[in-house]
Amino acid sequence: MIKLDVGLGDRSYPIQIGTGLHPSLKEHVSGRAVVIVSQEPLAQHLKTLLAFLGDAPKSVTAYPLPNGESAKNIGELEKIIGCLIEAGLGRDGLLIALGGGVVGDITGFAAACYQRGMDFIQLPTTLLSQVDSAVGGKTAVNHPLGKNLIGAFHQPKAVFVDLDWLDTLPDNEMSAGLAEIIKYGVIADPDFFTWLEANMAGLRSKNKALLAHAIARSLSIKAEVVAQDEREQGVRAHLNLGHTFGHAIEAHQGYGNWLHGEAVGVGMLMASELAKSRGMLDDEQIQRLYRLNRAAGLPLKGPAEMAPQTYLPLMMRDKKVLAGKLRLVLPIGLGQATVVSDATESEIVAAIATVQSANH
Ligand code: GLY
Repeated sequence: MIKLDVGLGDRSYPIQIGTGLHPSLKEHVSGRAVVIVSQEPLAQHLKTLLAFLGDAPKSVTAYPLPNGESAKNIGELEKIIGCLIEAGLGRDGLLIALGGGVVGDITGFAAACYQRGMDFIQLPTTLLSQVDSAVGGKTAVNHPLGKNLIGAFHQPKAVFVDLDWLDTLPDNEMSAGLAEIIKYGVIADPDFFTWLEANMAGLRSKNKALLAHAIARSLSIKAEVVAQDEREQGVRAHLNLGHTFGHAIEAHQGYGNWLHGEAVGVGMLMASELAKSRGMLDDEQIQRLYRLNRAAGLPLKGPAEMAPQTYLPLMMRDKKVLAGKLRLVLPIGLGQATVVSDATESEIVAAIATVQSANH
């Protein structure tokens, strides 16, 4: 087991990484009314969790969220709240998110809203949620006009990363999580990027020791960034490398049709081409990024039917637009990043076009 801490004063919390459910989970549920939000494909995981919890909680109610990203909406949020009321939860109750990013985001937001805030715990079951969305307290549902536009910062009480959940994760979801892992190397740690180049095949084949290292390194970077800048006034924005381009792909294709991590992977290439055109990244560095994304099983281009110009209006809907100015995270070499707000439309379109026409 590896333990990390997100240092946020009296809202600090532990992250436990290992195989099997961590014994301290029982302490969190002990004597409390608990509601577990999950999705139907995770029925087996839910069974494992219920057996583990046994009769430690005062009561347990399992809430089945409909499948897919489309479930992350305000109507479903209201239904979860209805379940909390019917289960008789007070502010001293506990919500548990058992699932990927969709479950974690909507459950966290329900916890932020219910009776003005209650405790919740993240049990992320996908690689992407284990290395990113379960940690940091970003909770949200989607609005028809944009992703995550209704939300709150609300930190979990603990995050339990059980590597065993990954045993049944499909290959494309492994790749999507690896995109976020690569992101940490690009923005913060050149040695980790080199380590990923050497170990990508082992990570894809779900070697647990390698996964534990990759997840722990990713989350220690994330924990440090969140501790410095919980509400994304500064450095936390670096965690969004590739996301503004990626959100445009997801919005164009319909959320859930391209996996978030796949879109982020291509978005990182687009941001990197823009950085390269500004002399912030050299050819050798960008080629290493293309190679690593390929080794991770990620797409190297956006959807063929999406012309470079179609990205701009979709990118302008991003939360990172300030006073009409698009703020883009760009890498500086491999291992550092910065935010720019002076990228011109022609630079952005040229960077997208370069990725779309590159021959790899
Ligand atoms: N996924 C980016 C963040 O948590 O800030």
